[in-house]
Amino acid sequence: MAPVEESEKEKKEKKVDIDMKEKIEQILGEIEALKCTTAAEVEEARIRLLGKKGTITALFEEFRTVAPELKREFGQKLNQLKNAAAAKIEELKANAGAAAGGKNGGSGEDLSRPGDDFPLGSRHPVSIVREEIVEIFRKFGYDVAEGPEVEDDYHVFEALNFPPEHPAREMQDTFFVTNNQEKNPILLRTHTSCVQVRCMETMPLPIRVVCPGRVFRNEAISARAHCIFHQVEGLYIDENVTFADMKQSILLFAREMFGPETQIRMRPSYFPFTEPSAEVDVSCNICHGKGCNVCKGTGWLEILGCGMVDPNVLEASGIDSKKYSGFAFGMGVERIAMLKWQVKDLRHYFENDLRFLSEFENNI
Ligand code: DAH
Repeated sequence: MAPVEESEKEKKEKKVDIDMKEKIEQILGEIEALKCTTAAEVEEARIRLLGKKGTITALFEEFRTVAPELKREFGQKLNQLKNAAAAKIEELKANAGAAAGGKNGGSGEDLSRPGDDFPLGSRHPVSIVREEIVEIFRKFGYDVAEGPEVEDDYHVFEALNFPPEHPAREMQDTFFVTNNQEKNPILLRTHTSCVQVRCMETMPLPIRVVCPGRVFRNEAISARAHCIFHQVEGLYIDENVTFADMKQSILLFAREMFGPETQIRMRPSYFPFTEPSAEVDVSCNICHGKGCNVCKGTGWLEILGCGMVDPNVLEASGIDSKKYSGFAFGMGVERIAMLKWQVKDLRHYFENDLRFLSEFENNI
C-alpha cells in the first residue's frame, strides 16, 4: 500500500505546531529570567508579554490555526504560560513597590489612596431666591432690566415724586457720592424703584418688567439691618391696568413662591411713587395661619410694598397718565430668603462664611 501522502495543509499545521512549541519554551525562559527594578519596568514587561500586542497574546491568536487534535495540549500549555507570566509580573510588581517604600508605584506614592476631594461651590442663597423670583415673573411674561447702582437724585427720588424735604434724602439714610447740597447729587441707590424710571424713559409701551439689584442704605449693621441688600422691583404699565390686576398678579406670584395654598392680604400704606399704595402679607407657611414665632403669632408675614403708579411719576417720564395706568411693587430678596429658610440674622447673607453657604448646596 502506498504510504499516505501528507497533505499540504497538514504539513503547514505541523510546522505551526513546532513553531509554537518553540515559542512557548522561549517565552517561558524569558519570564524566568525577567528582572525589573521599577514599577515602570514591570509595566513595560507586562505590556510586552500580555498587552494587546504582546507576545503571549499573539500566540493565542496563532492558536486558532493549531491542528484540532493538538488543540487540547496546546491550549493547556498556553494557559500555563499566561498564568506564569501574570504571576511573575505580580511578584515583580510587589518587589518594585517594596523597594520604593510604597505600596504601588516606584514614586513611593500609594496610588490606591482615594483622590483629593474637589469641593464644588454652590450658589449663594440670595442668588437662588433672586433667580426664583425673576423666573416666576418671566413665566408671567415680564422682561428683566437692570440699572446703575450709582445713580442720581433725579432717578432715585425726584422722578419718583419724593418731595424735596423727604427724610429718605437725608445723609442718615442715603450714601452720597457727591455733595448732597448740589443740584441732582450722585448717590448709591436706596431702592430699585429708580430702574422703573429708567424703563419708563426708554422702553416702548406696554411695559412689563422686573428689575433685580443691589441697594444701599446708611444703616448701622445689625441682625435686622444692613447697609447693602437686594431688591426686585416690578412694573407693569398699559392701558386699563387696575388694582385688581395687581392683586391677582401678586397672589399668583405668592402661590408660585410659597405654595398653592398661600393667601395674601393687603394693608393700606404710603409710598410717594404709588397711589393708592399697599403692603402685602402672605399667610405664614410655617404655622399655616395658626400663629408661630416666625409670624409673631399673627399668621401673616410681610413680603412686599406695591401700588398703582402715581400719575405724577408717569408724567415725569413722559407717559400720558390719562391713557396709561400701571402698578409697581418692590420686595427685599433677603427678606424672602429669611422666610424661606428661617435665617433671621441678615449679616449671614454678607459674611460668606462657608459653613453657612454650604447649607444651600442642595438648592442649586
Ligand atoms: N421702593 C420701596 C422700598 O424700597 C419698595 C416699593 C414699594 C417699591 C412700593 C414699589 C412700590 O415699586 O410700588 O421700600
